Amino acid sequence: MIIALDGPSGVGKSTLARALASRLQFSCLDTGALYRCVALSVLLAGVDEANEIDVSKLAQTATIRFAPQNKVFLNGADVTDDIRGARVERIVSVVAAYPRVRAALLEKQREIGSLGNYVVEGRDIGSTVFPNAECKFFLTASLEARTRRRLLQNQEKQRGSVDEQEVRNMLAKRDATDATREASPLVCPSDAVRIDTSDKTFEEVLTLILNHVYEACPAL
Ligand code: DC
Repeated sequence: MIIALDGPSGVGKSTLARALASRLQFSCLDTGALYRCVALSVLLAGVDEANEIDVSKLAQTATIRFAPQNKVFLNGADVTDDIRGARVERIVSVVAAYPRVRAALLEKQREIGSLGNYVVEGRDIGSTVFPNAECKFFLTASLEARTRRRLLQNQEKQRGSVDEQEVRNMLAKRDATDATREASPLVCPSDAVRIDTSDKTFEEVLTLILNHVYEACPAL
């Protein structure tokens, strides 16, 4: 069974996906980490991110592995922290827009999802990767709410920018790139449950999602 969780940057998808997976005893797949690994490969290989062919070759050959405690390995190296760095942030939505990169990662995502019950979070999970997912959610929040949350997260984890204007601009820029690209743009699938989380607590959103899941799949 697949639960698809889509939405823009900073909406709280990762934290919710993990909590949801833990409550349901599902596995959790953070598809953004795959795109981040490709972006990191580009930086490590010194490839020009504007060169779609070279970037796609890296996407096709990269070995990406997820391990317990949300660890991510790229070609055998632990890159859990590196893929969250500022340099990756700057180019990830550029490489994620390339159709060949998306095609390479589509296979990987479907392969992983076929292994069991998964909460899969990303931008095009309900629309493209798993269009037959049993439950689909599309989370939104105002730019202000997302900026506030991302700032707090960066402060807590001592990672990324803590400048409000910079964080707001970065989120707005990434959303624009993700939503306007031709290949699998960020869209709310017509059969997804749309939840605006701006004025809701984490627990409220989690409860709302769980209620929908239990209603859709009473056997759980
Ligand atoms: O969720 P995130 O911030 O880790 O995503 C990183 C980038 O990857 C972001 O620019 C959107 C892109 N992405 C995507 O295009 N499709 C997905 N399914 C997941 C992420």
